[in-house]
Amino acid sequence: MIYNIDHVAIAVHDLDEAIERHRKLFGAEPLWREVVDQQGVEEAMIAIGGSFVQLLAPLNTTSPVGRFLSKYGEGMHHIAYAVTDIEAALDDLRQQGARLVDEEPRQGGRGARIAFVHPATFAGTLIELVELAHE
Ligand code: CO
Repeated sequence: MIYNIDHVAIAVHDLDEAIERHRKLFGAEPLWREVVDQQGVEEAMIAIGGSFVQLLAPLNTTSPVGRFLSKYGEGMHHIAYAVTDIEAALDDLRQQGARLVDEEPRQGGRGARIAFVHPATFAGTLIELVELAHE
C-alpha cells in the first residue's frame, strides 16, 4: 500500500527565509515551489535522497496551516506516504475505522492526488496519502 516517504512537511511563517536558512544550514536547494490555492499554502520541495522536505507557508491566517502556526508555532506538520492507489488506500483505512480528514482525494502540488488522515487515527500524527501523477 505505501512504498515511500514522499515528504515530511514543516510549517514555517516565511517561506523565503526558511528556504534560505535551510540552504545555509544543510546545503540543500528546493527543486521547485508552488502556490496550492486549494490548501491555502505556498510550498517548496527540497529533495533529500528519494524523499522531500516540504516547507509550507500559509497564504493567510485562516488556512489550516495558518491556524496551525498560530496555535503551535513553526514545526513538523505532517508526514506524507506515497501510495500506488489512493482510492484503495482510503477504502482500506475506512474499513479499519480510521478517521479521515478527506473522504475523497483532492488536488495537491505536482499534479498529485492527496488525502489527509486525521491525527486521531495514528499517534497524534497528521498523515497525508499521495498518489503521484503518472507520466
Ligand atoms: Co504535504
